[in-house]
Amino acid sequence: MFFLAVSPAVGGMASTERYKKGRGVLLFDFAQSSEPVELQYAFTLLAEMKNNLDYYSDKLSAERLKLCYEIAPPRVKQYLKAEVEYVLKNVGSSDMVLELGCGYGRVLRKIVQKTKLAIGVDTSTDSLLLGKKMLRDSKNCVLLKMNAVQLGFLDQTFDRVICIQNGISAFHVNQKDLIRESIRVTKPGGKVLFSSYSAKFWEDRLEWFRLQSEAGLVGEIDYEKTGNGVIVCKDGFTATTVRPGQFRELTSKFDVYAKIVEVDESSLFCVITRY
Ligand SMILES: C[S@@+](CC[C@H](N)C(=O)[O-])C[C@H]1O[C@@H](n2cnc3c(N)ncnc32)[C@H](O)[C@@H]1O
Repeated sequence: MFFLAVSPAVGGMASTERYKKGRGVLLFDFAQSSEPVELQYAFTLLAEMKNNLDYYSDKLSAERLKLCYEIAPPRVKQYLKAEVEYVLKNVGSSDMVLELGCGYGRVLRKIVQKTKLAIGVDTSTDSLLLGKKMLRDSKNCVLLKMNAVQLGFLDQTFDRVICIQNGISAFHVNQKDLIRESIRVTKPGGKVLFSSYSAKFWEDRLEWFRLQSEAGLVGEIDYEKTGNGVIVCKDGFTATTVRPGQFRELTSKFDVYAKIVEVDESSLFCVITRY
């Protein structure tokens, strides 16, 4: 029998002891059998979080986030496809997978077709509600409102933790804390996959953001402040990048093996294996 603990108390670092003793803990119980996991579609709105009013919750959620991907030019669509394919290559049929910043489930709906159980967490209620609709036929998928740096899961729960499409920059959190938390919930021998952008993809990425700006999805691009992997908009939106050296530095203090892989000359993956 396997228990996955999810706590509504998202205010601090999770610890096994706290969840064993804590009150108000919601347990999903997955009987281990040869049958496919029959999991009720679960959607839990956890306590409101401080960062609820961030850009992605406020201005770039649900249908607006979906539109960003729909208006992507062909080269960007190729990048998005290659990124998901790389993730799928790294996921097995018996894996428990967690996606951080899953949005409306664009990537998760591919992962659920390949694996035993996929859980997506995001801080945007609107994106999660759209995801709930889009994934309504998936019985092995759970969406939860949760901050990626304060995950309400037990230590060593997942075989794979995924955070792609430059989530490590988009979350605007302390990147070392994000990496530490993702490693904490990964099983020994399991992998965490982060992705940012390859420097070779800069012009295509900028063109995509220009289209998003033209469509009113993000503010006007501030070309004076934009460059060197960073896109700045006049309405306060910023999108940075994590370079290979930064990934190396960010992972160097943990007991892990980190491999940096460029995919499709567009995304830069940091694949972390937990010892
Ligand atoms: C660039 S979007 C990517 C969405 C999705 N991964 C995809 O590729 O379609 C970033 C997502 O991260 C979510 N997000 C922002 N900060 C977060 C945090 N601290 N924890 C979890 N999700 C967060 C946003 O709401 C948004 O849905």
